[in-house]
Amino acid sequence: MADFLPQGDSLNVLDLATGTADQLLALYNSGRVKSGIGLDLSEKMMAIGREKIAKRELSDRLSLQKGDAEEIPLNDESFDAVSISFGIRNVTDVNKALREMYRVLRPNGRALILEFSIPRSRLIRYWYLFYFRFIMPVIGGLVSGDDSAYRYLNETVETFPYGKDFCRLMSDAGFNDVKREELTFGIASIYCGEKL
Ligand SMILES: C[S@@+](CC[C@H](N)C(=O)[O-])C[C@H]1O[C@@H](n2cnc3c(N)ncnc32)[C@H](O)[C@@H]1O
Repeated sequence: MADFLPQGDSLNVLDLATGTADQLLALYNSGRVKSGIGLDLSEKMMAIGREKIAKRELSDRLSLQKGDAEEIPLNDESFDAVSISFGIRNVTDVNKALREMYRVLRPNGRALILEFSIPRSRLIRYWYLFYFRFIMPVIGGLVSGDDSAYRYLNETVETFPYGKDFCRLMSDAGFNDVKREELTFGIASIYCGEKL
């Protein structure tokens, strides 16, 4: 994701659905982020994230705050980049969240969205979906004690728009020059969109 940040070496970034702040920290590690905010609905996730930030003595640069990606409690045109990793699939109204991302971006700012997608190759897709539907819930259940979370994962991934369909949603929200980068045979994708 950091490779897709817009130009500049003192960027102000917002990471939505930040969870435990791994994405925010990874963007900061690029050396091009000066300051950043992570937003999430879960205080418990952010408590872990705040510990990570404090441990790295970055509390003066990175902060986490409670908030909904669908109603971002921050001013218009405040950020050079807004990211969301494995979070857009979880919001109730995707279009609303995309419009909110657009609103808080400065002109020439960029949205970066990382999300699961389905491989294009029929052969890889067949084996991937077999693993995703039947093997991963068992392994995930054994490790975490909660196999329902892993069944939910594959159901939501298989029904969520990806590829051209997701690019269209971004364009409809106002983004320009929307691009998709497929990762690992297309099991995940990074979508980038510009605010002119
Ligand atoms: C799968 S986790 C991803 C966390 C992190 N981005 C990462 O990649 O490690 C999804 C996160 O989305 C958050 N979330 C779900 N709906 C949200 C919303 N409407 N606004 C903000 N955060 C939300 C959850 O609390 C959870 O922390």
